[in-house]
Amino acid sequence: MSAILEARDLHYAYPGGIAALRHLNLSVTAGRKLAILGPNGAGKSTLLLHLNGSIRPDRGRVLMAGQPGDYSRRGLIGWRSRVALVLQDADDQIFAATVAEDVSFGPLNQGLPATEAAARVQMALAALGIEDLADRPTHMLSGGQKKRVAIAGAVAMRPEILLLDEPTAGLDRAGADQLIALLERLGQRGMTLVFSTHDIELAATLADEVALFDGGTVIAQDTAETVLGDADLLARAGLRPPMLIELWLGAQARGLIAPDAPPPRSAGALLTLLSPGVPRRAAG
Ligand SMILES: Nc1ncnc2c1ncn2[C@@H]1O[C@H](COP(=O)(O)OP(=O)(O)OP(=O)(O)O)[C@@H](O)[C@H]1O
Ligand SMILES: [Mg+2]
Repeated sequence: MSAILEARDLHYAYPGGIAALRHLNLSVTAGRKLAILGPNGAGKSTLLLHLNGSIRPDRGRVLMAGQPGDYSRRGLIGWRSRVALVLQDADDQIFAATVAEDVSFGPLNQGLPATEAAARVQMALAALGIEDLADRPTHMLSGGQKKRVAIAGAVAMRPEILLLDEPTAGLDRAGADQLIALLERLGQRGMTLVFSTHDIELAATLADEVALFDGGTVIAQDTAETVLGDADLLARAGLRPPMLIELWLGAQARGLIAPDAPPPRSAGALLTLLSPGVPRRAAG
């Protein structure tokens, strides 16, 4: 499988600060959804800022489709048009006076004609369920509304790779579910997604792969099933398996389901495994 974006042995310390990233290796596979999972202060945001060239590493490098990142002005414009980043704090991202203006900033900056940019804005606002906010002044929005505007701005650029820093933080349940459904759709259309989170349930719902983060480095990167099912590994990052996986592991330990049954992705799938009549031991 081809790595569309890679971090190789990254090291970075903020000016005057302690090392935020060290010996960090990460590989983003085209067309997949990767969760950067780890506790507060682990270095998730710092890594995402490296992946679109906003921060240049002290050592190591970032590769785009095998090519070293180009930090020249022109290089960065091209890089950020292919790799869009939604920042953790929407206030750091939103600058224009109105929502529609803010969301049109990226497409116009990409050189699209005004009519095409306007169509992109319409589509992005609809995708985030905020068409009614189009003419609203951006300083008169709630935190969750701002977050959606920031995501709409990135989606409107139609990047190859969309980086999202804590995408569901601050969203209510309906807003989070709507966003997850949108990200699933974007993934199905071939967009590569990388999102940071400390929310293991979000990783379990959305991710194909998980990079587990602790102390400024990736301590494991594998399929979501493998990482989220490994309680000892998760404990090293101060995390516990998702509730569904804990129930599945507990049911296996008690012999209620076959030891080689695959991890369930939903409560319904777990209940099916636990239903009477489902063989508890694998044949053979
Ligand atoms: N602007 C900054 N200046 C100095 N140190 C910083 C700065 N931003 C972050 N750090 C430090 O770098 C380390 C990594 O921070 P980072 O924001 O990348 O973590 P994170 O995993 O995104 O955390 P969170 O889950 O809280 O968002 C932390 O030790 C943090 O204190
Ligand atoms: Mg962060």
